[in-house]
Amino acid sequence: MAEPGPPDASARLSAPETLLRIRGLSVGFGGPPVIEGIDLDVGAGQFVSLIGPSGSGKTSILRVVTGLLEPLQGTVDRAVALPDVGFLFQDDALLPWRTARQNVALGLRIRDVPPADADARADHWLATLGLAGYGDRFPAQLSGGQRKRVAIAQVLALRPRLLLMDEPFAALDAIVRTRITQELLDWVERDRLTVLLVTHDLEEAICASDAVAVLGHGPRAAMRARHAVDIPRPRDVLDAKRHPAFGPLLRKLWNDLTAEAPPSPAAREETPDRMSSPAGDSVGSSSSSTATDEAGR
Ligand SMILES: Nc1ncnc2c1ncn2[C@@H]1O[C@H](COP(=O)(O)OP(=O)(O)O)[C@@H](O)[C@H]1O
Ligand SMILES: [Mg+2]
Repeated sequence: MAEPGPPDASARLSAPETLLRIRGLSVGFGGPPVIEGIDLDVGAGQFVSLIGPSGSGKTSILRVVTGLLEPLQGTVDRAVALPDVGFLFQDDALLPWRTARQNVALGLRIRDVPPADADARADHWLATLGLAGYGDRFPAQLSGGQRKRVAIAQVLALRPRLLLMDEPFAALDAIVRTRITQELLDWVERDRLTVLLVTHDLEEAICASDAVAVLGHGPRAAMRARHAVDIPRPRDVLDAKRHPAFGPLLRKLWNDLTAEAPPSPAAREETPDRMSSPAGDSVGSSSSSTATDEAGR
């Protein structure tokens, strides 16, 4: 494996293939730390999902990675310059006075892509997300799910090298959701896109990821486990659910999430998120797991 190149940000990473390395991260907002001692690695070309109870600090971790939040302690090494990082936050921020096409094209225009080119690329991504023909609509003329898809197109059109996503697909119907996940997966496999996805959907996490990291309950939430997803690539999102490793890993993730003390009243007050349950008949026993624990902590 090649040594890191010149002494830039990437040279600080001991493993050249690690695109994002978080060590000993603590975040607080005046009270006790929300998260404490968080370690998380995302390798180049990896798809890593982060799951955890509501209010455990998942969004805070992404905000630290993007530089929007100062950590109390710890380091974040990101071997990708900020312009090559795509963020997709829970609340999309479309400009209401611009059409869907103009919203998607805006980031490209800022990066000096010629207008016609930017519009064509915007239309391509809108079509990929099932919004062909919607380019001239303003955000107010779109449903919540459609607006979310425009926001996703906006980020993907910039072809980031590192993509950070915070529960991006929760508002989407199953077909669109599956299509986008497959598209992302193909992109990861073809172009070594690197993804860190925060999701409440355990099945989505398994089908798309190389590894799933589980955050425990806060305050002082720690990383509870990290499981490798032992399903070969290239992967078909739907077929992945039929792989023998799927059921046992789903059970493990469920156990990880439910094993701890219930969330604090403050966390319970939050809007309940959609959380897929392994109650389906495809779930096997955790003792027969074929998935590998990458690093239990
Ligand atoms: N700006 C803030 N000020 C005070 N507390 C915050 C702020 N942002 C988040 N928190 C608290 O930090 C904890 C973690 O929040 P967050 O990272 O949004 O969790 P998650 O994304 O896992 O639901 C929660 O208890 C939340 O109330
Ligand atoms: Mg969040």
